[in-house]
Amino acid sequence: MKKDLLSIADLDRKEIEHLIEQARRMKQEEAPPLLSGRTLAFLFVKPSLRTRVSFEIAMYQLGGHAIYLSPEEVGMGKREPAVDIARVLSRYVDGIAARTFSQETVQILADNSSVPVINALSNLEHPCQALSDLLTIYEKKGRLPGLTLAFIGDGNNVANSLLLSSCLVGMNFHFASPPGYEIKEEVLNQGKEFAALSGSQVKLTGDPYEAAKGADIIYTDVWASMGQEAEVEKRRLAFSGYQVDNKLLSLAKGDVLLMHPLPAHHGEELSVGLLDDPRSVVFDQAENRLHLQKALLVKLLSNPEVSGK
Ligand code: CP
Ligand code: NVA
Repeated sequence: MKKDLLSIADLDRKEIEHLIEQARRMKQEEAPPLLSGRTLAFLFVKPSLRTRVSFEIAMYQLGGHAIYLSPEEVGMGKREPAVDIARVLSRYVDGIAARTFSQETVQILADNSSVPVINALSNLEHPCQALSDLLTIYEKKGRLPGLTLAFIGDGNNVANSLLLSSCLVGMNFHFASPPGYEIKEEVLNQGKEFAALSGSQVKLTGDPYEAAKGADIIYTDVWASMGQEAEVEKRRLAFSGYQVDNKLLSLAKGDVLLMHPLPAHHGEELSVGLLDDPRSVVFDQAENRLHLQKALLVKLLSNPEVSGK
């Protein structure tokens, strides 16, 4: 059976811990060409800097190859249905990394392909980001269980994957957003189920200061995600009291980490200059996409029975 990564919930706690361990090893020593002769196809309908480059370099460093397919070229759902794209690509490549709008599209791709499909960001989740972030937190703090991550901002894809991953590994998750921008109940309930097993605490509030109190990590993301461009002004107003700044950071622990998946809108979700603050680890996060995804690609693509080739 091939294994996909469509949601962070496709992994259990042991698998996440193993990926972090493997990624740390791959960061320290050059990995052998474990994916020699393997190809990963990118099916991206949204822009990307980090995800595309880190996956491409990861394939290259593991002896494999990546092909970027632009949205114009493929015309997913317009020129050709996702079902057929998945079936055709499965005949050529060993894995598909898809960046889509709806989660349903990554699900359709996975259901119709015989090779592993990786969610490289959908409107619902960004599992590769969350996994890489756990690696960064582990590197900086030396542990995960018992830490508290406070997410200030929109209940978006990044927040969803962070909630689920925190609850899987035993980290506490605080969340503050304005009304109407909360994490959806379905994701929240799934997170709470994981939390009941791992011992994590989940705290939801409308007050960013309340969420930030005593946190080990303050995390934020853009107020308007890709595809929400028409709502930029409305969201700027709604989120105006939710900027991460020095005052908010001062409520967290003294050794707090400031995290953001990037791209950042300086002066919106975080105050100007804060990315360069000593507490900011955002560029370590960006780097760790590469190391974590190498471990992930080896896990999903290196088994010859799985690749179908
Ligand atoms: N953080 C992240 O996924 O960045 P890109 O959108 O540039 O890939
Ligand atoms: N929430 C953002 C994350 C970008 C990496 C978006 O979906 O645009």
